[in-house]
Amino acid sequence: MNESQMRRVLERHGQLHILKWWDELGSGGRSKLSVQVERIDWSLLARAKEHISAPKGRIEPIDGLDLAAIGARREEYFTAGRDAVRAGKVACVMLAGGQGTRLGSDAPKGTFDIGVTHPLYIFEQLIRNLQDAASLCGSAVPLYIMTSETNDGATRAFFTEHDFFGYPQERVAFFRQEMAPAMGFDGKLLMSAKDSLALSPNGNGGWYSSLMRAGLAKEAAERGVEWFNVFAVDNVLQRMADPVFVGATILSGRTTGAKFVRKAYPEERVGVLCLQNGLPAVVEYYELDPEMANLRDDKGRLVYSFGVTLNYLFRADMLREIAARQLPVHAAKKRIPCLNEEGELVIPARENGCKFETLILDMIRCAGSCLPFEVERSREFAPIKNRTGADSVDTARELLRQNGVIL
Ligand code: UTP
Repeated sequence: MNESQMRRVLERHGQLHILKWWDELGSGGRSKLSVQVERIDWSLLARAKEHISAPKGRIEPIDGLDLAAIGARREEYFTAGRDAVRAGKVACVMLAGGQGTRLGSDAPKGTFDIGVTHPLYIFEQLIRNLQDAASLCGSAVPLYIMTSETNDGATRAFFTEHDFFGYPQERVAFFRQEMAPAMGFDGKLLMSAKDSLALSPNGNGGWYSSLMRAGLAKEAAERGVEWFNVFAVDNVLQRMADPVFVGATILSGRTTGAKFVRKAYPEERVGVLCLQNGLPAVVEYYELDPEMANLRDDKGRLVYSFGVTLNYLFRADMLREIAARQLPVHAAKKRIPCLNEEGELVIPARENGCKFETLILDMIRCAGSCLPFEVERSREFAPIKNRTGADSVDTARELLRQNGVIL
């Protein structure tokens, strides 16, 4: 895109302020900025507005496989899942493109050391969990790791430096997700430098499109992968390629599966599995109205209590179809470091704008079919979102200890 084309595009979208320091930039800075402008998906803003005003529809509780039902057919599920993993039909995808702002470290979240008497990195613990599944099933599982432009180099270097924590390196591949611009509350795009927009990863909903763009979805299909088990980088008790979960989902005939834990309390910040207009969906905690969040059945149990752990199974053949559709765009209010009028970088004390993200949880609604699968909270749910307090390094350490991990 040449300069006059760029000016026309920016003018059309009311964003000419981006060129405020253009005359000060050298050719490197100019080309960096024009490439960023060229890559902007201008539909994001309209889609975010659409999502805010979209009717929520009819929300109802959903049925799922609870621990007792799973226990009753455990052997059967295990055998079906183990055979699928052994036959190479299951690949894992680790979502590690997030910024982990709440944890307050610039390094990739997975490189965070949660050890006490010796180092234990989040990535290391996750690889150990994956090794467990591989040993149970008698086959190493392909692992795709999604990074972002910001943390890709550091993530790859970390794995190399630690020799992939003993996991067969040829089974691991990295791919990068896209970035999206951030916008101030006045509707103006924010800048992080005179030659750069304030860009951030575009959410975890684009993982499959990014996998395709990297040529890895095709490669997985050629290898015979039929299921993707997608999980978050921050739950250190995560069980991935879990043969019982895989087997139960395959035998259910559904196209997706979602691990859930019973919510600990109504306000817990986890997405909730439910039916939306008759279809399985995950509703974000801030989108579930308080009355529903607090609703209890006659036994006193929360009605909307299936909290997702961000561990999903997707049947590969329907992912292409989902990726072709546009997922809703969520505008998340954040504190976004940006340039002020004088061109100085400011770290705001409070939220100053929005980041635009698509979310993996919306893929469940698009799939139209899902098996909710209960897991024991104390054994499979130790998310690390914050440094201290709820869902923190402290709570995760305690849960790891309870599960026999020496810290
Ligand atoms: P979170 O929603 O917890 O976001 O991500 P985050 O970026 O890790 O943390 P905060 O909100 O900035 O503190 C849930 C999972 O989705 C991944 C994260 O890496 C994590 O595994 N994710 C999130 C991505 O891979 N890409 C994104 O753009 C956002």
